[in-house]
Amino acid sequence: DLTAEQEQFDRLIADDSRIEPRDWMPEAYRKTLARQISQHAHSEIIGMQPEANWITRAPSLKRKAILMAKVQDEAGHGLYLYSAAETLGTTRDQMMADLIAGKARYSSIFNYPARTWADMGAIGWLVDGAAIANQVPLCRASYGPYGRAMVRICKEESFHQRQGFEILLELANGTEAQKQMAQDAVNRWYAPSLMMFGPPDDDSPNSKQSMAWNIKRFSNDELRSRFVGMIVEQVKTLGLTLPDDEIGYNEESGKWEHDPLDWDEFKEVLAGRGPCNAQRLERRREAHDDGAWVREAAAAYAAKQAEKRTM
Ligand code: ACO
Repeated sequence: DLTAEQEQFDRLIADDSRIEPRDWMPEAYRKTLARQISQHAHSEIIGMQPEANWITRAPSLKRKAILMAKVQDEAGHGLYLYSAAETLGTTRDQMMADLIAGKARYSSIFNYPARTWADMGAIGWLVDGAAIANQVPLCRASYGPYGRAMVRICKEESFHQRQGFEILLELANGTEAQKQMAQDAVNRWYAPSLMMFGPPDDDSPNSKQSMAWNIKRFSNDELRSRFVGMIVEQVKTLGLTLPDDEIGYNEESGKWEHDPLDWDEFKEVLAGRGPCNAQRLERRREAHDDGAWVREAAAAYAAKQAEKRTM
């Protein structure tokens, strides 16, 4: 009965154990996970666009090969995450339809343009760095398929972050113009990357319940602060600066503090009015339409194989 099932679920959560697709779970838990995992999957897929934009213009064959591999990894991350979300009962077709209709969220960060080659460095270092800071604790998420997908994703993200850092390091040690290009990219991506962690804790409606369910392990502000502490050291190695004079460690709270962020801008981006929202969705729709024949061919092939098996 339902009470016994709820008790069993509560016990698994209290033991910091895992919930698997076959287990009973409260509807609200299922919904929260389907929301977060599908948004996460969409972010990986839309996130291919700002970098794909530079594949044809990468400055060398080696850089092109690395960037292509990286963008392909993001596609893979999207696919593992759609698979994890499907175990909760929503089909991939439905999730894709919601994304294309503009009904689904994806990370705010991918609505900013990648203007120069140095942005490939800043995206790798700051955006993938923020993604790692947010995702390493998700490896311990209470929902098994999500946590397991995160383990592999985090390993690949850490390679992505290092390649971004290395791009910036090379530019920062290049000509004055190259160093300036690297600094400009860091200046442009800094605040948007801090916003990736989500709204401040007192304005984050989902955090409390998600933490009680061991989906999120730390609050948005806690992870943001931790990330600031990481990059404030790394930027010294680059010989660049962060565009923030307010960064400092608060001994009392044990937290890194930073300049207040522009939450009005964040809300505009979430409402679909960021610099690239319209373009990102348009490209996604085009890609989906262009891929229709591949889906049809795959379905026809699968049907033929199934027919052969029954013959
Ligand atoms: N971009 C877009 N939407 C956001 C962002 C963001 N950076 N931060 C928060 N939101 C949305 C939430 O999805 C939520 O929307 P909804 O209720 O309509 O679904 C709303 O703002 C309120 O935020 P919270 O209550 O704080 O939401 P939540 O507890 O889900 O925390 C967070 C947000 C931290 C992003 C969480 O969902 C998470 O950790 N997700 C997994 C990581 C992820 O999606 N990363 C994608 C970028 S990294 C990459 O792809 C390389």
